[in-house]
Amino acid sequence: MSEDTKAISRGLRGKRIVLGVTGSIAAYKASDLTSKLVQQGALVDVVMSEGATNFVAPLTFRSLTHRPVLYQLFDPASDAGIEHVALAENCDAILVAPATANLIAKAANGLADDLLTCMLLATRRPVILAPAMDGYMFENPATQENVSKLESRGWKFIGPAEGRLASGLVGKGRLADVEDIIGGLKQALGREGDLVGKSVVVTAGGTQEPLDPVRHIGNKSSGKMGYAIAEAARDRGANVTLVSTQTSLRAPYGVEFVRADTAAEMREAVVSRAPESDILVMAAAIADYRPATEAEHKIKKSGGGMTLELRETADVLAEASGERLVKVGFAAESRDTVANAREKLGKKRLDLIVANNITDEGSGFGSETNRVSIIDADGGVEELPLLLKTEVAHIVLDRAASISEGA
Ligand code: CTP
Repeated sequence: MSEDTKAISRGLRGKRIVLGVTGSIAAYKASDLTSKLVQQGALVDVVMSEGATNFVAPLTFRSLTHRPVLYQLFDPASDAGIEHVALAENCDAILVAPATANLIAKAANGLADDLLTCMLLATRRPVILAPAMDGYMFENPATQENVSKLESRGWKFIGPAEGRLASGLVGKGRLADVEDIIGGLKQALGREGDLVGKSVVVTAGGTQEPLDPVRHIGNKSSGKMGYAIAEAARDRGANVTLVSTQTSLRAPYGVEFVRADTAAEMREAVVSRAPESDILVMAAAIADYRPATEAEHKIKKSGGGMTLELRETADVLAEASGERLVKVGFAAESRDTVANAREKLGKKRLDLIVANNITDEGSGFGSETNRVSIIDADGGVEELPLLLKTEVAHIVLDRAASISEGA
């Protein structure tokens, strides 16, 4: 891959997306999708099929994007028909959501009878389709063949999902969740990113060490930092495994999700993958101690106090090793942040450690932001300002990627 093509994708900021909307009842969900794409910084040009305009008024999309909505190939008042080839080439990706069986069939066969299908035929940019239709229509061999044909040409399909369909039946035909569609779009945009070909393992969340069937010893980690790193690595083209405890967060689209609730499960998942991985980022807050035994039945109170016997857990990060593995640790400290983090970096033989003071405003558990210092194995300290966790994620990956490149 040449230097020019190693673009670092930082989500959707500044990306020019053509959003095709076709005539399915799910078309109304495209307005939520549009709103989220715009909120994330994308420049969105909506192109509707004629059928779609029966479900949602073009004015809806115009109001959300503040841009003209295109839907007529031969509109005498618009130059969009002539410009479609240019737009198909100048955008970063074309996303069609919802994509009907009819649109998929036309695209598979190279038909170009409206503006959207013309653009799909003219483009060389990534194309992502999120189908929505009746379950039997999707199952039909004709549709399946069309999907396979487009996939073999490099087009990406997100969904459809299983669930209740507009017909009242339950089946596979629902438009995928908007979060997944955006995740798939970002992944497609990262296909020439700087982490293509790299295997990245990220841990997230706080471990829960069981005491009895209903109780555990836990901590306040929300998992947000780790999930942000997993998504950022996916958006830069990496093969990502996210090893996570139970959190309130959704598993990100396009990453291998491995559930590990305890330190022992984390160890199993991480140590076995480390030899084949390029980068390991341990953002999980792993308990240092677990109850010595897990009671089979709920522990009853017996009056008076209670003493718990604890055992030390394995240090996953210290144990994980691989020939080309770049190891990145996190250190959440409440005092002497850099000194404590530096000690951990040496003890666990890390390439980088990301240290934060959890008592800093805006840097505590569960917040959207973090103020961190990144310390490298040569002792260098980079102090970053208060940033969104999504931005911290990219900077951590920048540093890890350059060590991995040089390895
Ligand atoms: N870590 C780990 N296994 C453990 C404990 C921690 O892999 N049993 C990892 C964490 O995921 C983190 C880094 O080590 O990336 C530092 O975690 P932290 O809890 O701050 O360090 P400890 O070594 O446990 O030191 P202490 O709790 O005494 O500060």
